[in-house]
Amino acid sequence: MRRRYPAQQICSLGPRGPSILIPVARDPVLGCPSASIYPGRKRNVAEGGRESLTESLAPGEPGCANIGWTGDGPLFLHNLWYFALASHRLKKGRTVVKRMLDVPLLIGRDRDGHAFALRNVCRHQGMPLSCGRFDGRHIECANHGWRYDTTGALVTIPSLAADSSVDLRRLTLRQYPCRESQGLLWVYLGETTDDLPPVPEIPGVGARSPEIVDTLVFRCDMDRAALGLIDPAHGPYVHRSWFWRSGRDPREKARRFVPTHLGFTMERHTPTRNTRAFRFLPGGTDIEISFQLPGVHMEHLRLGRHAISGMIAVTPITARQTEVSYCLYWTIPWLHVLRPLIKHFTHAFFEQDRRVTDRIAEIRVEKPPLALIGDPDVQALWYFQLKKEFLQARAEERAFRNPVVETTLRWKT
Ligand code: FES
Ligand SMILES: [Fe+2]
Repeated sequence: MRRRYPAQQICSLGPRGPSILIPVARDPVLGCPSASIYPGRKRNVAEGGRESLTESLAPGEPGCANIGWTGDGPLFLHNLWYFALASHRLKKGRTVVKRMLDVPLLIGRDRDGHAFALRNVCRHQGMPLSCGRFDGRHIECANHGWRYDTTGALVTIPSLAADSSVDLRRLTLRQYPCRESQGLLWVYLGETTDDLPPVPEIPGVGARSPEIVDTLVFRCDMDRAALGLIDPAHGPYVHRSWFWRSGRDPREKARRFVPTHLGFTMERHTPTRNTRAFRFLPGGTDIEISFQLPGVHMEHLRLGRHAISGMIAVTPITARQTEVSYCLYWTIPWLHVLRPLIKHFTHAFFEQDRRVTDRIAEIRVEKPPLALIGDPDVQALWYFQLKKEFLQARAEERAFRNPVVETTLRWKT
């Protein structure tokens, strides 16, 4: 039997998208925020109208439909930069195999130091090119020796007679734009244009490279992984440990959010001291936290003239596996001494998150529930709204209109 939640309606990412609960009025039981956080919808609700929100209500369910995934919506967002790996992992003349958004990729660096990304499937008979040889200029397929350059152009079919008239230009490999910045390598998956957006920039660290890079594979789709980055309520439970949180001493917090490029930012504030790691920070320390599509979370901790910045990026491998990568930067020279220790603790922290998705995967429920309730879950709602708007803007060939409006959210952790 379905549970019913009054004063809520459903919104979806279109006919096949994940269904989520949208709070449309502050409810004394559910504690949902005002509908005014959803632009363009307040008037509708005030008038009792529902036409803009009810298009995906299940028949015969006034006010609330099923809670959870519809399961087969457009999960991946294309035409965005995705974090691939730390630049230092890709040496000159070497390649790395990756799968991103279910695309098999061969990412390499030529002998001049330029990075490239190609579809890792030979145009002849589908052999993975990663099985062949790369001499720093050309990739030679291990099956029949077709040779490609690093732009994906086919340059030789060795078995053809010298006077063959085969047009090699028709047999290029798909190339994906690559960009390197702040020691990170990003790959753009989507339609290639001359006018690509900039890659996400880690604030406060200039052109530095990361001190720590760690990647964990989560057994979940990219939505689940992204929600973990913007979930303020799981800290005292999932991250309960001697170095982070005790689970006791919850405090009420109010945080101001503003819309930013493809996402939102929690405005600069003093970190709460009930997180143990923050107790040792000097006075005057403050932090700003942001999130943007497709799933890039940044934290910029300011300690006087120094900074510690973190970037967590979600990169889908397939529909059921997602890489969560953590990159940490700092400008404090003596902190290098503690690098192994910091890496140990940050890894343990993300293992705690990974364990949650593993447990959910282990119960083998096809559509795990997703009831998004009250202020602590508003960022998750925003994530789906941003995603929906991104897809709609592309479909209608118009500029992206950020659905997030400035608001203060309150929660207790
Ligand atoms: S499969 Fe690659 S050359 Fe034949
Ligand atoms: Fe977490």
